[in-house]
Amino acid sequence: MAHSEHDHLEALARANASVAAAAEDAASDYLRPQYHLTTPAYWINDPNGPVYYRGRYHMFFQHNPYGSEWGNMSWGHAVSEDLVHWEHLPIALAPNPDSYDSDGVFSGCCVVEDDIARIFYTGVWPEVQCVAESDDELLRTWQKSDRNPVIRERPREDLEGFRDPYLWRQGNEWRMAIGSGIKEEGGTVLLYGSNNLYDWEYLHPLTTGFGWNWECPNFFALDDTHVLLVSPHDEVVYTTGAYRDDRFEQGTWRKVDLGGKDNFYAPNTLTEADGRVLMWGWITGGGSEGAPWNGVLTLPREVGLHPTGELSWSPARELNALRGKERRFVSGPLRPGQPMRLDGIDTDSCELLIGATVGAERAITIRIADDLDSEIHIDLGYDRRDASVFFDTTRDTLEIGKDEEVTFRIFLDRSVAECYVNDRRCITRRIRPTSRGSLGVSIAAPGGEIGLSDCRCWDIGSIW
Ligand code: FRU
Repeated sequence: MAHSEHDHLEALARANASVAAAAEDAASDYLRPQYHLTTPAYWINDPNGPVYYRGRYHMFFQHNPYGSEWGNMSWGHAVSEDLVHWEHLPIALAPNPDSYDSDGVFSGCCVVEDDIARIFYTGVWPEVQCVAESDDELLRTWQKSDRNPVIRERPREDLEGFRDPYLWRQGNEWRMAIGSGIKEEGGTVLLYGSNNLYDWEYLHPLTTGFGWNWECPNFFALDDTHVLLVSPHDEVVYTTGAYRDDRFEQGTWRKVDLGGKDNFYAPNTLTEADGRVLMWGWITGGGSEGAPWNGVLTLPREVGLHPTGELSWSPARELNALRGKERRFVSGPLRPGQPMRLDGIDTDSCELLIGATVGAERAITIRIADDLDSEIHIDLGYDRRDASVFFDTTRDTLEIGKDEEVTFRIFLDRSVAECYVNDRRCITRRIRPTSRGSLGVSIAAPGGEIGLSDCRCWDIGSIW
């Protein structure tokens, strides 16, 4: 065994032991989400390299195995047969002492060719692009390539970052997008080409735009339209446009999630064989004081094209498998001043489905609180008066057809809320219940009578 491989195995063993020792403590925190994918303990950030390999979904993620803050960047690993129940596997990649990735194994992607899975990641510092390979059934063991780093020089000197490789197959060749920024110009994605995955040639910027540096680019097709997602050290945005001859024409930039950078960042996607695109993002933040965990990943979202030209987002259909006990609440007219309480929700991990016809000049407000009689609550909803979706203090415009229903799917998982409105807006937010199991929900019609067409809640248990 090569010296470096031995060092890697030692680093992995140490990291796995550290995480295992904190897992019980992390699991006992009442704020710890139950059905969101996360580490057994300690820090998680970006989802990395989602891939489907020999009948299973694999998710990797940026992980600090030694604490609840960012650091010691490694690739944690989990596997799933159904996209919603996950099992933790040992950490896949850790920094090798005294090498090109000794300061961290940063974000990247995973591609499969000839039944071999290859992770592309950024080793630091300086930022260099690297490969690790695996072909074992569960992708448990990874060998860092002898040819690393496969890209060791930056293509030009006036760059900011140089990280987070994202690959796709293009005809008989491969393309790699790297997140960066050009000084005096703005955030950019650098495009590389290769025909063997190891020798890479720099082509040109795929596109350049606002901000100073873009992280975690993802570039994929939905029918004939190409989508570019970037994380610009601020809220995550996307643009759509045509891609031809290695050139991309960017269009309008739009938000991916209304929760803002502190609630949703660095998403990564998986394009399946049938063209379905799934996306996961990183939700920041820890639980109770001293509890050894920080962060979870969002639920998988299906990304589509909406007739308006925007992207649509819906919870992956597999998530319906998580639905447990169902409660149906009365539907019918809801009048101002007479909010409806959804009694008997005795869980803090559930899905709510609420559909309503909200006529002109009307609004629907859904209140979530530990105790509905207290002053502490979050209101979310839709207001026809200014065509806006709101969640607490966040607001965004959403034009909904005059006769179209407003539909909310709200996933509450202890201290995490994910809300989908008409599959066109997503809002991810951390929430802070004050004790286990407490959840009050009520629905109100502050602007005049509305019609509730559907109101259901499903308990969701732990996926672990
Ligand atoms: C995004 C990011 C990436 C980087 C990784 C390091 O959150 O900063 O650009 O590769 O996190 O953990």
